Amino acid sequence: MSAGDILTLQSGNASLVLEACGDDVPLWRHLGLSVDAHDLPPLLQTRGKATFSMDTDRAPDIFPLAGNGSFARPAVVVTGANGEHVLPNMTCVKFESEADRLSVSLSDKSIGLSVRVDYIAIAGGIRIQTSLENGGDAPLSVDRISSATLPLPGRCERILSWRGRHNAEFVECMEAMPQQAWVRENRRGLTGHGGPCGAYILTEQAGYHAGLVFAAQLAWSGDSRLTIERDDEGFWTLSAEALLQPGECVLAPRETYDAPPLLLAVSGEGRNGAMAIMHAMARDIANWPGGDMAPRPVHLNSWEACYFAHDEARIGELAAAAAAIGAERFVLDDGWFSGRGDDTAGLGDWAPDEAKYSNGLEPIADKVRSLGMEFGLWVEPEMVNPDSELYRAHPDWALSLQGRDPPTARNQLVLDMRRAEVRDYLFERLDTLLKSAPISYLKWDHNRDHSPSGGAAQVRGSYELFARLRAAHPEVEIESCAGGGGRIDAGILEYVHRFWTSDNIDALARIPMQRGFLAFMPPEMMGSHVGASPSHATGRMQSLDFRAAIACQGHFGIELDPAAMADDEREKLSGWVRFYKDWRDIIHGGKVLLGEANDGLVWQAQGTDDQMLLWVIRPDHAENRRAQPFPLPFVEGRDWQVGILRSAISGGVLTPRATPFFHGLREEPHGFSGSWLAQAGLPVPALPAESAIIFHLKAQQ
Ligand code: GLA
Repeated sequence: MSAGDILTLQSGNASLVLEACGDDVPLWRHLGLSVDAHDLPPLLQTRGKATFSMDTDRAPDIFPLAGNGSFARPAVVVTGANGEHVLPNMTCVKFESEADRLSVSLSDKSIGLSVRVDYIAIAGGIRIQTSLENGGDAPLSVDRISSATLPLPGRCERILSWRGRHNAEFVECMEAMPQQAWVRENRRGLTGHGGPCGAYILTEQAGYHAGLVFAAQLAWSGDSRLTIERDDEGFWTLSAEALLQPGECVLAPRETYDAPPLLLAVSGEGRNGAMAIMHAMARDIANWPGGDMAPRPVHLNSWEACYFAHDEARIGELAAAAAAIGAERFVLDDGWFSGRGDDTAGLGDWAPDEAKYSNGLEPIADKVRSLGMEFGLWVEPEMVNPDSELYRAHPDWALSLQGRDPPTARNQLVLDMRRAEVRDYLFERLDTLLKSAPISYLKWDHNRDHSPSGGAAQVRGSYELFARLRAAHPEVEIESCAGGGGRIDAGILEYVHRFWTSDNIDALARIPMQRGFLAFMPPEMMGSHVGASPSHATGRMQSLDFRAAIACQGHFGIELDPAAMADDEREKLSGWVRFYKDWRDIIHGGKVLLGEANDGLVWQAQGTDDQMLLWVIRPDHAENRRAQPFPLPFVEGRDWQVGILRSAISGGVLTPRATPFFHGLREEPHGFSGSWLAQAGLPVPALPAESAIIFHLKAQQ
């Protein structure tokens, strides 16, 4: 390639345009919505001069390095074999495009370091992969490596990100673009309860439905850093990386290191457009048994129904109650294995408790299957209780610092997944379990932060165990859980099929949390259960209808004992189970749109091009006397039949006499033009707090 040559990657509505710069690293020309880049004058001709700047202009490139006139955050920091700080000086040795891919290879022959950056069009988004190779004769220590460095235009306005803690996942944070730098860094050893290392960047007036939005997430389940720095050129630079511990990544000659991929979405249709691309990319990564996703079965999970207090007889009763209301998969949660009477002991000893399950798991698994359900099992492989046979035999297998006792959390320690013998032990235990009984599902938990850290190699050790188990038992689905939603990211997604969103299943708390989840992952992977009232996490009471209506947005389940319910409530719950089964193909049909209406109403539509379920939700008390119609921007251009499928009205105050039109919609849909719904808006009744209506929208041909 000669200097000035342009290569473009097109994905969906996005273009990524780079310019060859001779031997130098290729330059950024454009990252945004689609452009036609033919006949571009070379960047260095259009930039002009700036005072107090390098005489040889150094325009923003894809892999900034220190010491060559660039002042961006360096993409790589390496140390030589003798501890000397090495400043790579990369030349571009390959810059080429194939169908759906742009590849750049850089090399510093003097130290033998090669870098390859691939920009790959997938599912309307862009996957960026960066890898390093030590082509020299001496070891090189990699201190940090960015998965991607991206330019964000000067018209960016706000950063939308999420933070969280156990029981309060995905708390939405909206901030102005920084005047200096914005950093989201996680040092807890796993993804964390604020969701993946990622953010949405909103330009100018961008909102849910319109405007230019960039969204990024790192496919990584460990420590990470996302930075957005203002550059005094007048734009921002985003860089994302998995954090490396000092000295942990030493590349021997010929050894390579693959930084975790960054998934990037560029949307001209606001947050919802970016979310759709994120969902498409996640679906592209997902690896379903048999190739395709089967309809997501209704779960009954034993945890909040009986916590640790169970044995074969008790679980048999719970399973019978689960089957009677229509559950399709029964998950036996914590408490089934040796010595596990509470959370102080047993982790690591992955064999059924002889007192509780004297004949192993086969009889209970068989019973569950004879009731017409799949049998799933909870495990927490990466952990060990000091009070366990495993720890007594191998105290050195826990992550620790020499001469210091590692701090426990929930009475447990983290196993050192960097060690092959630890992974072999866990594989053997899990493999034996899966062979011992018809278990087709694992809920794979991870209930503490890492301290001390095992670094990036700990994460890769876990991935290796997941991969080995998936290869040995490809028909088994896995749920990723970490004290609720502490490990939800596109890295672990390669191995799992469901995420447990949060231990907080209070429906009110779940409304914003599930919307945050959907920023990165699609609804069919979002574990959402109907829990008891009062909620075990918050103590709040909510109607069964409201709890079930919110749980229906994801992969539906039940986390209570149906046998303990009053008959009419149990009947109501099985009605919701039937509802979910009837509509899950539409709920998980591919499209999700979020919106906010006046006076605190929120709405959420899920479905296909031709029909959608629309949740209209009033979380809190209204201030206005009457609810105002609100526009549905996604329906323009077609006429729609609008009906009501279900309503969850707290206190039952919406009487047929007060709202005859809406009661009529339950029997007979009403036709509206798309322009009316998009411009004048959908009429809705005034709703009391903690209520939801699920509308059905069907497009007319
Ligand atoms: C974590 C999970 C819960 C449950 C418990 C069991 O907190 O998030 O769903 O499995 O562990 O100990």
